[in-house]
Amino acid sequence: MRKPIVAGNWKMNKTVADALSLVEGLKRDLAECKKVDVVLCPPFTALKAVADAVTGTHIDVGAQNMHWEKSGAFTGEVSAEMLRELYCHYVILGHSERRQYFHETDEIVNKKTKAALAANLHPIVCVGELLEQRESGKTEEVIEKQVRGSLAGLSSKELLDTVVAYEPVWAIGTGKTASPQQAQDVHAFIRGILKAISDEHVAQSVRIQYGGSVKASNAKELFHMPDIDGGLIGGASLEPRSFIEIVQGAF
Ligand code: PGA
Repeated sequence: MRKPIVAGNWKMNKTVADALSLVEGLKRDLAECKKVDVVLCPPFTALKAVADAVTGTHIDVGAQNMHWEKSGAFTGEVSAEMLRELYCHYVILGHSERRQYFHETDEIVNKKTKAALAANLHPIVCVGELLEQRESGKTEEVIEKQVRGSLAGLSSKELLDTVVAYEPVWAIGTGKTASPQQAQDVHAFIRGILKAISDEHVAQSVRIQYGGSVKASNAKELFHMPDIDGGLIGGASLEPRSFIEIVQGAF
């Protein structure tokens, strides 16, 4: 049985003070949550404060990006080791906003994924098609290329430590959610690719989140599809009540 994982991607939102007040609002309901892995992904500046605030709870912390090198002349970048030092256990990689605005390719995402795993961070590797790709029947082709490219060369053990997030780009921040069946179809397809690049055990064990306009009102229906193991939540993770209800949708 795969344990669902629900992660809040706060993107470039929340000062330290705002982050702490959001965490306070989440703790009463989620601190003891054992049925679902709950991960908060604040901006770099609030990672330490959030990690301190969730100490002693079941809530985990993740970053939204990192560089693949350990250290060096990479102005503005942060390494996996630096994230580990702040008690981060997860890192979102290859989010469509990183791919779109910062030109991250599958090759870059692959380097980051390997570096994250080498530092004992669980990568949350994002894949997803654009609207025109879906409309022209290219969804599977695009997803296959992204999954194979981003996860290339990973061992079975490394794949088991990885989370995949399927986020159709047309559903992110648009209020348009993929229907549970549309999402399920792609999740099952991704499991098939995992089997092809590894084996049945890996394919059945890796958790695949859905992301893209998940809200309290649609979370349960999505998370109860057979191949959907929780979600990566943007906008609706910025407010305690909606995020708590979304997590509860995965019970
Ligand atoms: P959204 O974002 O929930 O605001 O659509 C999801 C994401 O970008 O991970």
